Amino acid sequence: MKITSYPINKPLKGTIILPGDKSISHRSIIISSIAMGKTKIVNLLESEDVHRTINALKKLGVKIYKKNNHTVVYGKGLNSLKKSKQKIFLGNSGTSARLLIGLLSNQNFNSLITGDQSLSKRPMKRIIDPINAMGGNIVSKKNLLPIAIKANKKMKPIKYRLKILSAQIKSGILLASLNIKGNTIIIEPSLTRDHTEIMLKYFGANIKIRKINKNNIISIRGKKELKSSNIIIPGDFSSAAFFIVAALITKGSNITLKNININPTRTGMLKILLKMKANIKIKNRKIINGEKVGDIKVKYSILKGCKVSSKLAPIMIDEYPILSIAASNALGQSKFFGLKELKVKESNRLASIKNNLKKFNILTKVENDNLIIIPSKSKKKKPILIDSKKDHRIAMSFAIMGLVSSTKVIISDSKYINTSFPNFIKLLNKIGGKII
Ligand code: S3P
Repeated sequence: MKITSYPINKPLKGTIILPGDKSISHRSIIISSIAMGKTKIVNLLESEDVHRTINALKKLGVKIYKKNNHTVVYGKGLNSLKKSKQKIFLGNSGTSARLLIGLLSNQNFNSLITGDQSLSKRPMKRIIDPINAMGGNIVSKKNLLPIAIKANKKMKPIKYRLKILSAQIKSGILLASLNIKGNTIIIEPSLTRDHTEIMLKYFGANIKIRKINKNNIISIRGKKELKSSNIIIPGDFSSAAFFIVAALITKGSNITLKNININPTRTGMLKILLKMKANIKIKNRKIINGEKVGDIKVKYSILKGCKVSSKLAPIMIDEYPILSIAASNALGQSKFFGLKELKVKESNRLASIKNNLKKFNILTKVENDNLIIIPSKSKKKKPILIDSKKDHRIAMSFAIMGLVSSTKVIISDSKYINTSFPNFIKLLNKIGGKII
């Protein structure tokens, strides 16, 4: 499926409500499934990736259904999951895979998990190693999906320093620790998204977080049942990022994004955009279920190029494709450092960004794992064809680029947008975009 994004030559205007955060949606389904009692989830993201997690838990015997505008999950405790009769297919969803490998490592039964072509190429050693170090028995060829999980009820707590700064790895270990006697400790040399910790605390887990020197130390004591708690999921900052950049680069724009999750472990891109002289304001700040939420107001701005240190990468990892579009429309060169992890996302995003920006005559260089972007205005009249490499964030980023291009932009495999943001085209067109 292809979509075409047309240059609009008019401002984006309006107020929109975005779908629920993807990371929090996955966690809300998983954690409520093993809690005691009924959980009501409001504003769950209805995307393919989240549906993979829902279907997995349903196969594992959990009763989950939709009622009016919310989702209801009936949890029966830490040891209530049942063996799935079939293999568990997780489609494109890396988060489902890494989190469920941890959760399933110490159940009463074995499991087999598989994924689509893209997920089957993504690295799983990062989660297999710590889980096996805890006594897990995760078996796979070359550390890729399909993966057989031979459950071990006698896994041991671990003290583990994250070698790769990844919230998925951290969360997989935390989910495994829930069913282990004793104290599991995870050391993060630098912050990664902390939605799992926030939600576990909200559900009554025995979890403590301390900062020692620059390290974030998370300790969790397992074998304590979680108590069901209702959840309202805020709008996804990573989805908001596409609209923020769209408004910043389209002349005269003025938009408001309501109730967006502004958890500081997610909003590294805001810091950078403000340095680039973006006109962004946050209003109506509040805390919902332990998560920071606010309205984001964005006005068209003349952006300056920027440097982004590798230290910020974990708190803005999903935003580099759309930040590259902001940088391509800024004055002066930008340089993003330390993007190794971008190579193992839904596509090799470093290569996807570089190859597709070139088509707009924008000079890009990759030196080691750093990306340099030197903007220039293209006057191309022929349509520009974008190969999204089946990557939702690449497809959406270049759809935004199309709004301010000299010609229409045609994007391949746009159906992958449904993995994280099924309403993207409709909402963008609602505020003045033209994507068909
Ligand atoms: C996610 C963590 C990040 C992010 C992904 C969602 C999560 O991955 O890129 O989209 O929900 O924990 P890593 O843990 O691999 O950095």
